[in-house]
Amino acid sequence: MAVRPINFLLLSSPLMLMKGLLPLLVCLVCVRHGSCSTSPQDVSALESLAAQWKNTPPSWSRSDDPCGDDNWEGITCKDSRVKKLKLFNMGIEGTLSSSGIQSLSELEHLDLSYNRNLGGPLPPSIGNLKQLVVLRLIGCEFSDRIPIEVGNLLNLHVLSLNSNRFTGAIPASLGRLSNLTWLDLAGNQLTGNLPTSSDGASGLDQLVNTLHLHLNQNQLSGRIPTSLFSSDMKFIHVLLDHNNFSGEIPESIGLVRSLEVLRLDSNYLNGSVPSSIRNLTVLNALNLANNKLIGPMPNLTGMHALSYLDLSNNTFDPSQVPEWLLDVQNLTTLIIESGRLHGQVPPSLFSFPQLQQLRLKNNALGGTLDMGSNISDQLEMVDFRNNAFTSVTLSSDYNNTILLVGNPVCSNVQLRETEYCHERQDSGSDSPIADCLHPYEGPIVCRAPSFSDISHNLAPMANRIASMLNGTPVSFSLQNYFFDGSAYLQVQLTICPWSANYFTRREVLLWFDLSSQNLGLSEIYGPCYFDPWHYSFRRNVNRALIVGVAVGCVAAVLAIAGLGSYALWQKKRATKAIILHNPFASWGSAGGDAGDAPQLKLARCFSLEELSKCTDDFSEDHEIGSGGYGKVYKATLQDGKTVAIKRSQKGSKQGGVEFKTEIEMLSRVHHKNLVDLIGFCFDKGERMLVYEYISNGTLTENLSGRRRTQLDWKRRLHIALDAAKGLAYLHELAKPPIIHRDVKSSNILLDDDLAAKVADFGLSMLVDDSDLGHVSTSVKGTMGYLDPEYFMTQQLTAKSDVYSFGVVMLELITGRLPIQKGKYIVREVKMGLDEKEKEHCGLKQMIDPSILNDGCIVGFRKFAELALRCVQDASDDRPTMNEIVKEIEALLKDDKLKKKESSASSSSSSSSNDAELRQTYDELLLLSREVNSDGVRRSDRYLFSD
Ligand SMILES: *[C@@H]1O[C@H](CO)[C@@H](O)[C@H](O)[C@H]1NC(C)=O
Ligand SMILES: *[C@@H]1O[C@H](CO)[C@@H](O)[C@H](O)[C@H]1NC(C)=O
Ligand SMILES: *[C@@H]1O[C@H](CO)[C@@H](O)[C@H](O)[C@H]1NC(C)=O
Ligand SMILES: *[C@@H]1O[C@H](CO)[C@@H](O)[C@H](O)[C@H]1NC(C)=O
Ligand SMILES: *[C@@H]1O[C@H](CO)[C@@H](O)[C@H](O)[C@H]1NC(C)=O
Repeated sequence: MAVRPINFLLLSSPLMLMKGLLPLLVCLVCVRHGSCSTSPQDVSALESLAAQWKNTPPSWSRSDDPCGDDNWEGITCKDSRVKKLKLFNMGIEGTLSSSGIQSLSELEHLDLSYNRNLGGPLPPSIGNLKQLVVLRLIGCEFSDRIPIEVGNLLNLHVLSLNSNRFTGAIPASLGRLSNLTWLDLAGNQLTGNLPTSSDGASGLDQLVNTLHLHLNQNQLSGRIPTSLFSSDMKFIHVLLDHNNFSGEIPESIGLVRSLEVLRLDSNYLNGSVPSSIRNLTVLNALNLANNKLIGPMPNLTGMHALSYLDLSNNTFDPSQVPEWLLDVQNLTTLIIESGRLHGQVPPSLFSFPQLQQLRLKNNALGGTLDMGSNISDQLEMVDFRNNAFTSVTLSSDYNNTILLVGNPVCSNVQLRETEYCHERQDSGSDSPIADCLHPYEGPIVCRAPSFSDISHNLAPMANRIASMLNGTPVSFSLQNYFFDGSAYLQVQLTICPWSANYFTRREVLLWFDLSSQNLGLSEIYGPCYFDPWHYSFRRNVNRALIVGVAVGCVAAVLAIAGLGSYALWQKKRATKAIILHNPFASWGSAGGDAGDAPQLKLARCFSLEELSKCTDDFSEDHEIGSGGYGKVYKATLQDGKTVAIKRSQKGSKQGGVEFKTEIEMLSRVHHKNLVDLIGFCFDKGERMLVYEYISNGTLTENLSGRRRTQLDWKRRLHIALDAAKGLAYLHELAKPPIIHRDVKSSNILLDDDLAAKVADFGLSMLVDDSDLGHVSTSVKGTMGYLDPEYFMTQQLTAKSDVYSFGVVMLELITGRLPIQKGKYIVREVKMGLDEKEKEHCGLKQMIDPSILNDGCIVGFRKFAELALRCVQDASDDRPTMNEIVKEIEALLKDDKLKKKESSASSSSSSSSNDAELRQTYDELLLLSREVNSDGVRRSDRYLFSD
C-alpha cells in the first residue's frame, strides 16, 4: 500500500517537469488521498456526483481512490482515468447537474438506467463527453428537452433514453451521430416532426448505420418523412407505433430491404398502403393496426418471412378474405379485427403450418365455418366473434379455443350452451419457481414478437437467459407472461441467489447487465429490454464479511462444473390457462375435465372479507414469510384456530392452475406428516390457501439456528422419518399417487413437538396409476434439490422426490444448504466418503457441529449411506420412500442409540469418552471462527478446506 504513491510520482514525473505548479498540487492531492491511482480530475468529478446523489454505493464513501484496489462500485478505469460508469438500478436519487459529469472527459460508457428517482434535465454539458460510445439512461425520470449537444457525441454507438419524461422535439443534431447503431427514445413525451436533413442541417435520415430506430410511445406527429427511408439505410427494426403520425406511409419504405420489424400501429396514418411494401421480403412482423388507412387491403404476396401480421381497425375497402394470404404461409399470427371482411373463410387458412392465432373478430364473415381436416398443430386460438356464421363444421382433432360469440350460429340450441358461445377471458398463467425473499426481478419487454402463442415460445428466451447467467450462482424463472395493451410481450423474470439472502451491488452490476445486450432475442421476440424493479439492497451489514463471501462465492462457482443449466421455467398450455380462469367453474357440475371432481368436504371456502379481517387487512404484522407464490400471513380465525394464509401475489393473474391443483390434492390427502389444508379463498380476484399453522417454522430455519431449537441427532432421525412417512403416503397410498416435486427443507415444517410435516403441494402433479412409468412434463423444482436425471430427461418419477429427500437428509447431517459458497452438498459428501475415513463417525469435517454435542452419533454412517443412495444418479439405484421409512425406523431401534439417549439425558457432558470425537469437535471449533452473520448459517461457521 505504501508503495503506491511513490509509483505514481515516478510515473508522473514528466508531467511534473512540464507543468510548473500543477505537480505540487497533484502531490498535495496524493498526500491527502493516500493513493493516486485515479486522476485528480476524475476524483473530484465523482466526488461532486456523490455529493449530488442519494444512495450511492457504500464503497463511494469509503476510499478516496475510485480506481484503486478497493475500487468504487460501478467504476472501471484504465490508465488512472474513469472509462465506465455503470450504476444501473442502484436506487440512486438526484439529478445530473452540469458540474461533475462533464469532467469525466475520458468516459466511454455511461449507464445510469433504472434509477427511478434520478431525473431532472439532462445537462447540455453531457456533450463534452466526447469519448462516449454508450449512453444509457433507461427508465429514469429525466425530463425536459433532449439537449442538442447530445449530437456532439460523435463516437456514440448506443443511445438509449427510453422510458423517461423527455419532452419537446427530437434534436436534429442526432443526425450527426453517424456511428449510431441503436437509437431508442421510446416511451417519452416527445412531440413534433421527425427532423430530416435539409439546407445543411442534420436529420435522422443521416443515420445510415442505425439498425434500431425505436421512437414508439411518444406524441410525435406530422408525416413520416419520405427521406427517412432510402436504400442507404440499414434499419432492421423501425418502431413508430403509438404516436400521432399522420399522412401516408411513404413509398420509400420499400427501399429498406433489411427491415425485419415494422410497427406503425396506433397512429393517424391515412391513404393506401404503398405496394412497395412487398419489397420487404425479410419482414417478419408488420403491424399497421389502428390507423386510418384506406383503399384495398395491401397485397402482400411474396412476403414469405412474415410471421406476425396485424391490419386491424383501419378502413380498407370491404373485401373477401384476400387470396394473397394463402401465399404468406409462414404466419404464426393473423389479426384483422374490424377489417370489413365478408364471405367464406377458406379452410386452407387453418392449415398454415406455424399458425397459432387467427383473430378475425368484428367482420362479416359468414356461411359455414369449416376448418378443414388439416389444421395446424400449433393453432391454439381462433377468434371469430361478431361475424355472421350460420353454421359450423367442427373438426374432431381440434381441441383448442374457438370463439364464436356474436354469430347467428350461437342462437342454435345445441351450440348455445357450449364454450364457443361464451365470453371467456384469456389469462396468462405460470407458476413461480425461483423462490426467495429478495429476488432481482422485473419484466422483460419485447416490442414485436413474431408469435402469439406465448407458452410455446418461451424456450428460446429461457435458454438465452440461462446462457447469459451461466457461471453465476443464481436460479431464475420466467412467469406471468402476457401481451399488454400495446401488443408488447411482457414476461416476468425472477432471479434468486443460490445461497445468500440478498444480491450485492457488485453482483447486480456484474451479472445482470441484461439491457446492454438487447438480450440477443430479437430474431424471435423483436427488440427487447429488461426493465428491473427497484432492488432493496441489504442494509447495515459488516462490509468485510459480505465482500469476502461474495468473492469467495464467485471463485467457488467458477470452480464447480456440471450443475447443468438453470433454466427452471415452466411452459403451460395456454388453453389450460384459459379454461382455468375460474378453476371452480367445472366443480360441482357433472362432466368436469378429469372426471372425479375433488371432494371439498373438508376444505372450507372463506370470503375475502373474513380473511382480511383476521389479518388486519393483510398487515405486515401478520406477515410470516413470502415466496414465489406470494406472502404468508399468520392469523387467528373466529373459532380461535391459528392458521397460515398463503396469499397469491395481488394483481397477478398467475397461479390459477397451481391453485386448483393444490386445493384438489390437499383436500384429498390427510396424514399426520402432511400439512392440512383448512380452506381456501377465491374471491374478487384473490386466491388464498388456508393451512393449519405449524408453530416451529421450517426445517431450514431450525437447521440454520434462526430458531432457538436445538435439533439433536435423534431428533433429526425422527424428522427424517416423519417426512419420509409423509412422502411415502403420497407416493404409495394417496389415490391417485402424488409426486411432490418440490421436496426441500423449507417445505418441511416442525410442529410444537418438533414432529415434521411436509408442506406445499403447489408443484405436485397427479401420477396416473394406470401408467406406472412416468409423466413427461417440463422441469420444475428448486435448484440444489433437483434430480439430475429428471432435469435431463424431463421424465418425472417418484424417484425424483427420493433424490430431493436425499438432499434433505444431507442437510440434516451437515446443517448446510444444498448449495452454499458454490459447493454442492451431494458432491461434497460423496467426496468426503471417498476419503476412506473408516473410523467411527467418519466424514467428520462435514458434520454439523451442533450434533457433535450429542456425543457419538450412532447410526450416522448408515444414515449417510442411505442419503447417498437416495442421491444416486440413476433413479433405479435409489430406494423407494417406503424402504427409506423402514431403514430409518431400524436405525432408531438401534440399541446403542437408545442407550446413548439415556446417558445423554442424564449428563450432557458424558459424551467425551470418545477421544476420536473430541478431536473432531476441536478441529471444527477451530475452524468455526470465520463467518457469522444473519445471511450465513450458524452451522456454516467453518470453511471447508479446498
Ligand atoms: C465511426 O467509427 C469509426 C471506427 O469505428 C471511426 O473511425 C470514425 O471516426 C467514427 N465516426 C465518427 C463520426 O466519429
Ligand atoms: C420495389 O417496389 C417498387 C414500387 O412498387 C417497384 O417498382 C420495384 O420494382 C420493386 N422492386 C423490386 C426489386 O421488386
Ligand atoms: C397480388 O400480387 C400478385 C403478384 O403481383 C398478383 O399475382 C395478384 O393477382 C395480386 N392480387 C391481388 C388481389 O391484386
Ligand atoms: C417461409 O416459407 C417458405 C415457403 O413458403 C420457406 O421457403 C421459408 O424458408 C420459410 N421461412 C422463412 C423465414 O422465410
Ligand atoms: C381495435 O379497436 C378496438 C376498439 O378501439 C380495440 O379494443 C382493439 O384492441 C383494436 N384491435 C387491435 C388488434 O388493436
